[in-house]
Amino acid sequence: MGKTTHYKAKIPDRDGIIHYTQEENATWKLLIKRQLKLIENRACDEFLTGLDQLNLPVHYIPQLSDIDATLNSTTGWKTERVPALINFDRFFALLADKKFPVATFIRSREELDYIQEPDIFHEIFGHCPLLTDPDFARFTENYGKLAMGASSEERKYLARLYWFTVEFGLLDTPAGLRIYGGGILSSKQEVIYATESEQPLKAAFNCLEVLRTPYRIDVLQAIYFKITSMGDLSKISQSNLLELVAQAKALGAYPSLYPEKKTG
Ligand SMILES: [Fe+2]
Repeated sequence: MGKTTHYKAKIPDRDGIIHYTQEENATWKLLIKRQLKLIENRACDEFLTGLDQLNLPVHYIPQLSDIDATLNSTTGWKTERVPALINFDRFFALLADKKFPVATFIRSREELDYIQEPDIFHEIFGHCPLLTDPDFARFTENYGKLAMGASSEERKYLARLYWFTVEFGLLDTPAGLRIYGGGILSSKQEVIYATESEQPLKAAFNCLEVLRTPYRIDVLQAIYFKITSMGDLSKISQSNLLELVAQAKALGAYPSLYPEKKTG
């Protein structure tokens, strides 16, 4: 949710169908084929199960109604078609209502490897598979409800919780480190960096630590937090998060691990 974008979400025709161009469908194909290879043995099982259930097309961009059929039958979620940029109030209200916002545009070839705005590839490939998982789905819904009623100051802290879970979360499993964050799973570079590089810190998930840790949206992450099961997310959303936010505020944020720019 950057502040400006040159991308425009596409509008469906009167039958509710969005017509993507050949070029747009070809971009989807390039992205999904590349990413399906990269996430082998790196994505968590819950994500891969969801991916199987969604059965995403490789040759063309799916219609949101196809995604909704699977989400609805697994966790009662659906997608919501939104413009390229929406404000935080709308974003949180949608999550609270079990609707995942998807802007119906795809990145240009020039931005194939990295795009700041969340496009349809990031939203569908990165996030929708895990929305079939009950723990993840409940966490996301509860997060939306909490953030909706939070002050703008509290939201700054809560944004870090979303960032280090839904977007950049890692999972420790008996088979090794696995990814569940959609920001990683939809990124060519970060899938390998997050799991195999020695460079970033990988800390055990601690909610207070997460709330105090600044992040940057435009570079590879300097730190990731590892949960031990999807059930941890349910526990987190049942804890008194606003009390933890108050503690984080009192203790202050940790110094940024990045050069000065756009920390969250
Ligand atoms: Fe995202």
